[in-house]
Amino acid sequence: MTEKGSLQEKLKNLEQLALAEVRSAGGEEAIQKIRTHYLGRKGLLTSILREMGGLSPEERPQIGQLANQIKASLEQAVEQFQEEKRSGKKNERLFQDRVDFTLPGRDFTLGSKHLITQTTDNIAAIFGRLGFEVSEGPEVELDYYNFEALNFPKDHPARDMQDTFYFTPNVVLRTHTSPVQVRTMESRKPPLRVIAPGRVYRHDSDPTHSPMFHQVEGFIVDRAVTFADLKGTLTYFVHELFGREVQMRFRPSFFPFTEPSAEVDIQCVMCKGAGCNLCKKSGWLEILGSGMIDPEVFRFVGYDPEEYTGFAFGLGVERIAMLQVGLSDIRIFFENNWQFLSQF
Ligand code: PHE
Repeated sequence: MTEKGSLQEKLKNLEQLALAEVRSAGGEEAIQKIRTHYLGRKGLLTSILREMGGLSPEERPQIGQLANQIKASLEQAVEQFQEEKRSGKKNERLFQDRVDFTLPGRDFTLGSKHLITQTTDNIAAIFGRLGFEVSEGPEVELDYYNFEALNFPKDHPARDMQDTFYFTPNVVLRTHTSPVQVRTMESRKPPLRVIAPGRVYRHDSDPTHSPMFHQVEGFIVDRAVTFADLKGTLTYFVHELFGREVQMRFRPSFFPFTEPSAEVDIQCVMCKGAGCNLCKKSGWLEILGSGMIDPEVFRFVGYDPEEYTGFAFGLGVERIAMLQVGLSDIRIFFENNWQFLSQF
């Protein structure tokens, strides 16, 4: 290669390198360093031009011209860099391919409590204000606690209403939360003021019955508890839950473990008592079972029925929730339908 050719090549390489450095420079300080390095008085361009000594007088101006072009293009690149930096375009260009700030943010969904849990919490809060404590019992229960000690003898027809799932003849899925009464009384002495929320199971499945559903049991045992205490407590509860205006009534009923027994009805929430499909034209809706604890139950747990009396009640959580928000099919609770669940 001639001396001129090699100089031209060196100059072109220098241009390529310098331009690349200018384009990726981080800021004003860096760009000035690059400029001095290539174009400064003791810079690379000057040192290459010093080699012109070996060129003929005709060749020198050609190389000089090329050097001037390179110098100009570098100066222009530096100026462009500074201009872009000033106008903010530099940042735009740097981030262009990395982050799209116009994309919507990444969403995350906050869950909420299931309507059944919310209803249970509301019920527990009302009884909490009356001094009830919360207790729990097993869902897989002995026949003894679910039936026997609650005064359902073997083969008694009252068992027909609560057919359930049997593991063995003596181990069942509990059909109600009442066994918690027996377990609590067995292990503690009065006074007792307890509610027991939880899942229960029955051999039942239709639009208003689910094989698994929820109850809240409640009971008080003390000296001189009367039916007036039962009425007062449940009236307060119904007023807190459904409002003071709602009419209610105590209707005689039967449970093997309470005597006397009463079911509590409220005025139909749909027709306000006029009679409709929901209340089967009666104007009333049953919301819970209750009664004075049967002396027979006290004998099973070793309490003296002459010394202690008490009352108990049990309510279905799904039913209460359905009445409060206006639902006609219980199965919606357990379908995990997001559109349904996210409304509450
Ligand atoms: N355990 C009864 C049922 O599930 C309800 C109840 C509880 C009735 C307590 C009276 C007293 O049907």
